Amino acid sequence: MLLLAIESSCDETSCAIIKDGTEVLSNSVASQIDIHKEYGGVFPEVASRLHVENINVTIKDALTKADVSLKDIDAIAVTQGPGLIGSLHVGVMAAKTLAWSLNVPLIPVHHIAGHIYANKLVGELKFPLLALVVSGGHTELVFMDKEYSFEVIGKTQDDAVGEAYDKVARLLGLSYPGGPVIDKLAKTGKANYKLPKVKTDNPLDFSFSGLKSAVRQLTLREEREGREVIVEDVAYAFQHAAVDELMSRVQRALDTLDVKSFVLAGGVAANSEVRKRVEDLKEVYPELNILQPPLWACMDQAAMIGLAGHIAQGMGISGDCEISANSNIQLHTY
Ligand code: KG4
Ligand code: ZN
Repeated sequence: MLLLAIESSCDETSCAIIKDGTEVLSNSVASQIDIHKEYGGVFPEVASRLHVENINVTIKDALTKADVSLKDIDAIAVTQGPGLIGSLHVGVMAAKTLAWSLNVPLIPVHHIAGHIYANKLVGELKFPLLALVVSGGHTELVFMDKEYSFEVIGKTQDDAVGEAYDKVARLLGLSYPGGPVIDKLAKTGKANYKLPKVKTDNPLDFSFSGLKSAVRQLTLREEREGREVIVEDVAYAFQHAAVDELMSRVQRALDTLDVKSFVLAGGVAANSEVRKRVEDLKEVYPELNILQPPLWACMDQAAMIGLAGHIAQGMGISGDCEISANSNIQLHTY
């Protein structure tokens, strides 16, 4: 059983070939980061055009690396949403064209389902499961009582955590994407600045815009008072405040829910402090199956869409040439 998966929701064009639902034969990624860096963030119109340029070569590259040809493919999986609508359209059109011409099933996949199922690369998902989804567009606690059943039990009331990293980096004059840069600087920073703790009405919700404003106030105050802003120390303070907020919600959820697995998902799952704190949970909850994706699988790529797509197909989820990209599709729709 060979599945060809496509992901194009943001600034990475990716195609993967998955064998028997679990073995990643290839995972080709054409990243646009170097181009978007010039704009300080993803420029949607430029992203769509680059997906158009990259999609065919990426598909060919994935087939070549897996040493298979199109006629061997049994199903196509594609990210239907959420994401940038122009970017999503490119992947969905390519997937529909392939499914139609090869006469094979077309499986629409939710981008976040893909991030969650990336954990299958490191172990078995045991249900009920709690996922902490942390990316540039999402910050959510997702409860799954069984395979491919998603319930969002907590979410950000404003910015996503990755978005907050990117915005704080911009106000500190650092490059895009800000997450990896702040993560690196924080490692050499000291606990020199204090940032406020965030309160939300729902104890499982998140909020990051206050933290971002607090960083702005902090830098303005230091400048006003004629002190040099120590960027590493600001990065340290922000990283610790952001990760404390994430982990306090996780701990609350784990203390009230009876789950067998806890998994980390999304681009911010690459963050060194988040990974360390998730690792630390193993001591607090020794019975819990705790997984985090390998670093390469935290970023957007098609392998995760293939892994989720295989499960979706088993659940009878299948689209046809009528499906279209949906930039706001909800997780529970599946
Ligand atoms: O999942 P992803 O690749 O794209 C979305 O689906 O949004 O996540 C991208 C986000 C960006 O905001 C980026 O700054 C953040 O993930 N990110 C990080 C790290 N690596 C990537 N944030 C914090 N620490 C990192 N090491
Ligand atoms: Zn993502």
